Amino acid sequence: MDRGKVKPPSPDRNAMPTDLESRLSGAPTLSGRVAVVTGAARGIGWATVQAFAAAGARPVLVDRDENALQRASAALRERNVDHRTQALDVTDEAAVDAAFADIAAWRGRLDVLVNNAGIALRRPSVELTRQDWQAVVDVNLTGVFLCARAAARHMLAAKRGAIVNVSSIMGLSGGGLYPNISYQSTKGALVNLTRALAVEWAASGVRVNAVAPTWVRTDLTRGLMDDPALVARMLDMTPLRRLAEPEDVAAAIVLLASDGAAMITGHTLPVDGGYLAQ
Ligand SMILES: NC(=O)c1ccc[n+]([C@@H]2O[C@H](COP(=O)([O-])OP(=O)(O)OC[C@H]3O[C@@H](n4cnc5c(N)ncnc54)[C@H](O)[C@@H]3O)[C@@H](O)[C@H]2O)c1
Repeated sequence: MDRGKVKPPSPDRNAMPTDLESRLSGAPTLSGRVAVVTGAARGIGWATVQAFAAAGARPVLVDRDENALQRASAALRERNVDHRTQALDVTDEAAVDAAFADIAAWRGRLDVLVNNAGIALRRPSVELTRQDWQAVVDVNLTGVFLCARAAARHMLAAKRGAIVNVSSIMGLSGGGLYPNISYQSTKGALVNLTRALAVEWAASGVRVNAVAPTWVRTDLTRGLMDDPALVARMLDMTPLRRLAEPEDVAAAIVLLASDGAAMITGHTLPVDGGYLAQ
């Protein structure tokens, strides 16, 4: 028997959605796929866009910051990446539905959605106003639901698709270094939203997963990173003794979005240097 060759699938494995040999080769399997990333103009979202481009996907950059979107688009144009930008606030229901209809029509497909847009208001819980609370819930939780719902309308019809939500280690732990209740609550909710949508949509070939990154140096954490004593405590709490880079998170997102993860759904993958393993 030629051990180097992969056997063709037996009839009872015909349901496997993708080609086994290409999955085992380790090569990116996102060629030509339309991959939408929210909060794409900077930070983790921008790293994810670039990782998708490197894997052969066609990124769609969604962000509410139009100037930053234009800068990102210019960088992709220089590299001849087939892409599209979409100025959008993910909390605007009607705009989300209209945008995803346009995106699905752009190349006639919608394969991947990364729900990455997120905000934080780090204040003591007793000082957090209802408006503060609601603002974070609107972006971090309702915005994720609205985008997932809009994308799924197209994915369920096509009977294929992958959604990756960006949670946080703060969605799987109580934090402790500073108060961040609305952030922690919404990121925790994303873990179960991920499970529930995964179960609901599995029969239609749509997978839903999440990543839970540790601290990453981005605009979102600038205030925290200015405090060397706080950063030292973060490192102390991280077995790998470093913070995550945006590319660390992007790599995990691309994995969950690709056919290499064809049997993974409903899972939240920590990208945390061992923080949650302790
Ligand atoms: N940076 C970290 O340490 C860290 C750790 C764990 C999880 N995360 C999560 O990763 C995601 C990205 O974080 P980041 O650090 O890259 O943040 P960032 O602030 O650098 O970038 C966020 C992007 O989202 C966009 N955005 C915000 N609200 C939006 C809205 N309503 N509609 C559309 N776009 C919107 C912003 O314009 C910005 O471009 C967030 O969900 C965040 O909670 C970050």
